[in-house]
Amino acid sequence: MIGKRVLEVKDLQTTFFTDDGEVPAVDHVDFHLEEGEILGIVGESGCGKSVTSLSIMGLVPNPPGKIVGGEILYDEKNLVHLSEKQMRQIRGNDIAMIFQEPMTSLNPLFTIGNQMIEAILLHEKGWSKKQAADRAVEMLKLVGLPRADELLKEYPHQLSGGMRQRVMIAMALVCNPKILIADEPTTALDVTIQAQILKLMKELNDRFGTAILMITHDLGVVAETCKRVIVMYAGQVIEEAPTKEIFDNPQHPYTKGLIQSVPDMREKKDRLYSIPGNVPKPGSIRSGCRFAARCEFAFDRCKKEDPELYQTADVHQTRCFLYDEERVKEDEHKAVVES
Ligand SMILES: Nc1ncnc2c1ncn2[C@@H]1O[C@H](COP(=O)(O)OP(=O)(O)OP(=O)(O)O)[C@@H](O)[C@H]1O
Ligand SMILES: [Mg+2]
Repeated sequence: MIGKRVLEVKDLQTTFFTDDGEVPAVDHVDFHLEEGEILGIVGESGCGKSVTSLSIMGLVPNPPGKIVGGEILYDEKNLVHLSEKQMRQIRGNDIAMIFQEPMTSLNPLFTIGNQMIEAILLHEKGWSKKQAADRAVEMLKLVGLPRADELLKEYPHQLSGGMRQRVMIAMALVCNPKILIADEPTTALDVTIQAQILKLMKELNDRFGTAILMITHDLGVVAETCKRVIVMYAGQVIEEAPTKEIFDNPQHPYTKGLIQSVPDMREKKDRLYSIPGNVPKPGSIRSGCRFAARCEFAFDRCKKEDPELYQTADVHQTRCFLYDEERVKEDEHKAVVES
């Protein structure tokens, strides 16, 4: 069943204008988020995951960054063209984000209560402080924090990493957002706490129907939480499919490499596979497939032309010439001629 689209990113281009030249961190990216779904975005460090989410939130640092093309459609509005004031409304009411390291978004100088009450009053105009404090306690309990009343009087540094991340989630949910962008929400946490936070996010998705964009470099997190996944490489989407399909039938050589490098609990391997080489800096490869230099299947065309996203099945798209129908036909023809 195809759900209603709550967010649509079309041909998004976000570029940093640096002394070393232009860095196209988000390079013609297309995807959508359906009502109530959890969509994963995966890819190695530097592939443009955070810049994609900052672009949606209207938080790209400018200068040096700027959205130079494309559209971000939400509720019949193109967010790219909204003013800062309008974007603040969207951030306060519709789309919330939690960051990798909660200390960057919690103010160390104010108590948890101060910060939560302020966020609540911004949303619920006309509420008294007491009403806001009650709501804050309710939200902290909702995200599974014990002794919520006392927590309100504490400062961020008095909390553990997992507790801070829960506070961040509570704050993000204060406005009852339609969309929650979670940028590596569990990377800084140890494995047990990580599992608890992911469970919490799934519960919130279930209970409130909040659509979640789950950004991670960890395919384990994707397998655990997402229905559908997008794989990014050097600023581009290189594969998109339902999660099960990505694991059962990965197509792009990069995705195959990512999956091979996930530790497998069942068969203990001595050494994990890792994809040779590094992600190229966006913009350093101007023509051809961005992955060609690291790809064991690369042929001439890969170094010369930019592959498009080929539709390889109803719900599966892959940016790789191996899946170009024309090429497949030519190969079949050659095979017939040669036999
Ligand atoms: N302020 C900036 N100035 C210049 N370049 C930037 C800036 N912020 C990001 N970039 C570049 O944009 C590209 C994408 O960065 P981004 O932070 O989106 O990666 P990421 O996929 O989130 O990686 P990670 O997994 O490490 O968080 C990188 O090449 C980075 O160097
Ligand atoms: Mg990031």
